[in-house]
Amino acid sequence: MALFLIGMPGAGKTYFGKRLGEYLKIKFYDTDEIIECKYGKSVREVFSEFGEKDFRKIESEALDYCFGISEDIICSTGGGIVEIQENLNKLKKTKTIYIKKSLEELENRLRDEISERPLFGDEPFKKLKTLFEKRKGLYEQFPSIEVPFQELSEAKLKEIIGEINRIEY
Ligand code: S3P
Repeated sequence: MALFLIGMPGAGKTYFGKRLGEYLKIKFYDTDEIIECKYGKSVREVFSEFGEKDFRKIESEALDYCFGISEDIICSTGGGIVEIQENLNKLKKTKTIYIKKSLEELENRLRDEISERPLFGDEPFKKLKTLFEKRKGLYEQFPSIEVPFQELSEAKLKEIIGEINRIEY
C-alpha cells in the first residue's frame, strides 16, 4: 500500500520520505519531481509559467500517477495538494500522513530561500502565514507525525515507523 506524505513547504516531507524509503527499501516518489521530469523544468519554473490554477491540475495528475502504481511506495506531495477537494477525497482512501510543523518552525526553515519561491510572491512571510492558516484544517483531517529537521538516526526512524504502524486506517 502506498504511503502519502502531506504538509507545508519546508516541513521536511521529501527528506523524511527519502530516508524512510531507503530504510524500508520501498521506492520513493515526489509529485514535484514527477512534474519536473515531465516538463523538463524546475517546479518553480512550471509554477511561474502555468500559474497556480493550472499548476494544481498538473500536480493532481502527478498524484494520480502515484495512485496508479501498484507496488508499495512512499510519495511526498507538494504542499498545495490538499487545496483540491478531489485530491483530499483520494488521499483519505489511502494511508496519508501529515508532517506537522508550526508556523514558527516553517518560517525559520524557509528563511533563506522563501524569496526564491514563486508561490510566496512579494510578501513571502505574509503569504506563508496565510497559506498555513488556510491549509492547517485541511492537513489536520489526516493523522500527523512530528519529524525533526535534524538528520534522522536509525533509532529515530524506527520510533517514527512504530508510530506510523500504530495509526489505524
Ligand atoms: C507548493 C509547494 C511546493 C511546490 C509548489 C507549490 C505549495 O512543494 O509543489 O511550489 O503550493 O505549497 P513542496 O511542498 O514540496 O515545497
